[in-house]
Amino acid sequence: MTDTAARPRILVARAVFPEVVNKLAQHFDVEANLADDIWPRDEFIRRLQGKQGVFTTGGERIDADVLKACPDLKICANMAVGYNNFDVPAMTAAGVLATNAPGVLTETTADMGFALLMAAARRVTEGEHFLRAGQWDRWAYDMLIGQDVHGSTLGIIGMGRIGQAIARRGALGFGMNVIYHNRARLPEGDEAAVKARYVSKEELLKTADHVVLVVPYSKESHHTIGAAELALMKPTAVLVNIARGGIVDDAALAKALREDRIAAAGLDVFEGEPKVHPDLLACSNVVLTPHIGSATVPTRKAMANLAADNLIGYLTEGKPVTPLNPE
Ligand code: DGY
Repeated sequence: MTDTAARPRILVARAVFPEVVNKLAQHFDVEANLADDIWPRDEFIRRLQGKQGVFTTGGERIDADVLKACPDLKICANMAVGYNNFDVPAMTAAGVLATNAPGVLTETTADMGFALLMAAARRVTEGEHFLRAGQWDRWAYDMLIGQDVHGSTLGIIGMGRIGQAIARRGALGFGMNVIYHNRARLPEGDEAAVKARYVSKEELLKTADHVVLVVPYSKESHHTIGAAELALMKPTAVLVNIARGGIVDDAALAKALREDRIAAAGLDVFEGEPKVHPDLLACSNVVLTPHIGSATVPTRKAMANLAADNLIGYLTEGKPVTPLNPE
């Protein structure tokens, strides 16, 4: 418990587990968004003024304008592994620490990648809509024919923790031939552990039966998959995005799905979410979920606790758990 006279002030920008807010309140004067309002940016900045720390959930942009308006700020702790809402170079220049929540959501997010892959490949949601609409009146040899997942070639773009967890599931659970593309090739031992073979992006797109995207969002990864990349994929291929909106050109994907250029897609993230491109909404061969890759109770609690521990560790002892800024 931190001495009340010297307690740092922090802002919790979105609603989180009450027990985590209570834990923070043992160390800090906390202003928490209990009603889970989406504060307009100017209100968020106004509330952040005079605070030393902020608990963010991935939607709050921390950039040069915020840093200039909030000179007391020392740390921004994201309850997410992705941190494209942070301008880390600007934060480093302003002496503000950035932290994220890596590791604790790896397996849960990999499960979601497989859920989307299975659902899209085997037309699970299409089948459910068909049944609920009362259209199912007989068994038919060619009804809702999908793509095999077991024994197929799985292409993973992005081979960090989550990419490797997907590779393990594919190789060991489904007997898949796993290929991957990444900025840097994994050390041989790590490749062998997940039974994955490094290939160029072009070879991956041409040969994979299923492509799963797990790259962080950046200027460089913007539209990693656009019309040209979709044109390289097999007409039977399934595309899964559990990374970030903006990695796929959603308009180009909707066109490819509509024209049966690829078989199906499973998407948990979207350009401009929570809005979803109307052309995607109009396609039946895409499974759509609202950014719930890490959404299980134990995982969300672990993410929230890690963000809280970063705030507590840094503001009380100068020791964050998972810092992002370069040394
Ligand atoms: C993450 O942790 O980056 C997930 O996408 C949740 O926001």
